[in-house]
Amino acid sequence: MNSDNQSIAYPRHISIVMDGNGRWARQRGLPRNAGHRAGVRAARKVVEACGERDIEILTLFAFSSENWSRPETEVTLLMRLFVESLQREVQDLHKNKVRLRFLGDRTSLPIALIRQMESSERLTASNEGLKLNVAVSYGGRWDLVEAARLLATRVAKGELQPEQIDEALFSAELSLAGVADPDLFIRTGGEKRVSNFLLWNLAYSEFLFSDALWPDFDSVLLDQAIDDFTQRRRRFGRTTEQLSAG
Ligand code: IPE
Ligand code: IPE
Ligand code: MG
Repeated sequence: MNSDNQSIAYPRHISIVMDGNGRWARQRGLPRNAGHRAGVRAARKVVEACGERDIEILTLFAFSSENWSRPETEVTLLMRLFVESLQREVQDLHKNKVRLRFLGDRTSLPIALIRQMESSERLTASNEGLKLNVAVSYGGRWDLVEAARLLATRVAKGELQPEQIDEALFSAELSLAGVADPDLFIRTGGEKRVSNFLLWNLAYSEFLFSDALWPDFDSVLLDQAIDDFTQRRRRFGRTTEQLSAG
């Protein structure tokens, strides 16, 4: 019997940097936007697969704070694609009991997208299936600065003493407050970096980098990633002997 539960556990929370849409399109002589459309189709399939596999939480990185620096035409097309895709998919997601939440700085988003996000969140708020978080206009540093600002405001109002601020209070102000940290971080597209995703929450996640371009990512590659995860020994700072002793 394996007493090391940490190494055989199934991931509760998977987070994915969905990278490689542009290269996927270029390989086919298509415009970048065709890659983004194919990326939405891949996301849809992975959401379904996570639901079927009893994954509790899936957090997808769709658009970073830094992606605002892309050419205006690409940004505009992406925003339009987010609105369209959300409109098209929300009823199915709802039927499948998915609870949808968006993370990120909404202030610069087009109003049509903000409305669609809000109505999708409202519609699915009491669903008890897969918790799907989509990061749009999100940056890990933005998230940390927002948390610091919220805590500073509470201190300024006299509601809180600086000495009371600890990790629990800090994380309660982050976008993923109350959500278990990602067990598994997947990045497709071959780059081995975090690109300002969930800086706080990834502190102890297992990292898996796949060379597959995001539109080619599917349930087979997801299963391989989960299998790989179940082989890992998560020590959280402890020794292997401590873990074996149970
Ligand atoms: C990821 O694919 C999607 C977004 C960042 C919006 P990319 O558009 O970054 O694709 P590559 O990296 O250029 O192939
Ligand atoms: C990261 O991909 C952000 C998303 C997938 C949304 P990028 O393609 O923007 O990352 P960099 O610029 O290569 O680090
Ligand atoms: Mg990229």
